[in-house]
Amino acid sequence: MSDADLVFQSYGRSCSNAVFFEDFYTIFMGKSSDVSAMFANTNMESQRALLRSGILWLVMHARGLPDTKIRALGESHSKKKMNIKPMYYSLWLDALMETLSRHDPKWTSELEQVWRRTLRPSIDLIQSMYDK
Ligand code: HEM
Repeated sequence: MSDADLVFQSYGRSCSNAVFFEDFYTIFMGKSSDVSAMFANTNMESQRALLRSGILWLVMHARGLPDTKIRALGESHSKKKMNIKPMYYSLWLDALMETLSRHDPKWTSELEQVWRRTLRPSIDLIQSMYDK
């Protein structure tokens, strides 16, 4: 099975439980007070639903879908819009890996490496759009 397929299946095993997205934001915001401050006025119920699709866009991009949705994320998170500095994406990815490790019953450290290298190009693209 390809890396992108392994990731797609792992996400399928994990994201059916709505608690997954609650855990993600608890873990992500626990990593930095700057991050939690950014979500101080956010409706987290909507945000959790948005993240469900957002992660799916990254996974589908890895499976060969065009980068339209990834570019839209790059645009919305850029300096001119939400101003999400590139350094925060490593915290985001670490939080995602921690959340997956708790929810995917088939989690292994090898699968974590597959996830990381599979999402890398999409995240690189989003980060590269910060200043544009
Ligand atoms: C909003 C996904 C990384 C902070 C959003 C939205 C999505 C999303 C889908 C809804 C608005 C939109 O479509 O643009 C993602 C994905 C990420 C990521 C897939 C990783 C590749 C980050 C990081 C931060 C962040 C690293 C830094 C703290 C925010 C904030 C909002 C937002 C503050 C707006 C919340 C509000 O409306 O109050 N994100 N995001 N995101 N994201 Fe991200």
